Amino acid sequence: MRLSSRSAAAVVALLACAHARAAAPPTRTPELLEKGRVSFKLNCASCHGERGQGDGVSAKALDPKPRNFAAGRFKYGAKPAQIFATLGKGIPGTAMIAFTQLPEEERWALAYYVSELRGRGKGAGSAKGEAAGPRP
Ligand code: HEC
Repeated sequence: MRLSSRSAAAVVALLACAHARAAAPPTRTPELLEKGRVSFKLNCASCHGERGQGDGVSAKALDPKPRNFAAGRFKYGAKPAQIFATLGKGIPGTAMIAFTQLPEEERWALAYYVSELRGRGKGAGSAKGEAAGPRP
C-alpha cells in the first residue's frame, strides 16, 4: 500500500505536534516565578538553602553538598531547560533525587526560579542562562 502524500503530511504534522507538546516550556511570567519561589521553599530549601546558596539545614550532612546556585557553577547547565532536565532525572548517587512527582509546570517554575537565583550572591543579576562550564 502506498501512503498518499496527504496522509503522509498528516503523520508528519502529528509527530511535530507531539514533539512540540513535550518540549514547549510555559512562558516565564511573574506568576510562574512566584510559584517557583513558593515551591522552592517547600521542596528545595532544606538542602539548597532559602536563597539557594547551598546552605540548607541538611546540607552539612550531605556529600556531595547541595549546589550553591548563587555561585553560578552548574555542572548540568544553568539554562531553564537544563535545570528542568536535571529535575526530571535527578543526579544518581547524590541526595538530588528526581522531582517527577511535581507537575511539569511546577518543575518549569522551579527551573526559572533557580536560574534567577544564579549570580545573586555576587549582586550580578545574571539570569541569562549560559551553559555550564568554566568561564573565562
Ligand atoms: C535532599 C537534598 C536536596 C533537595 C531536597 C534538593 N536538592 Fe538539588 N541537589 C542536591 C545535591 C546534593 C546536589 C549536588 C549533586 C552533585 O554535586 O552532583 C544538587 C544539585 C542540584 C542541581 C544541579 C545543579 C548543577 O550543578 O547543574 C539542581 C538544578 C538542583 N539541585 C535543583 C534542585 C531543586 C529545584 C530542588 C527542589 C525541587 C532541589 N534541588 C532539591 C540536594 C538536594
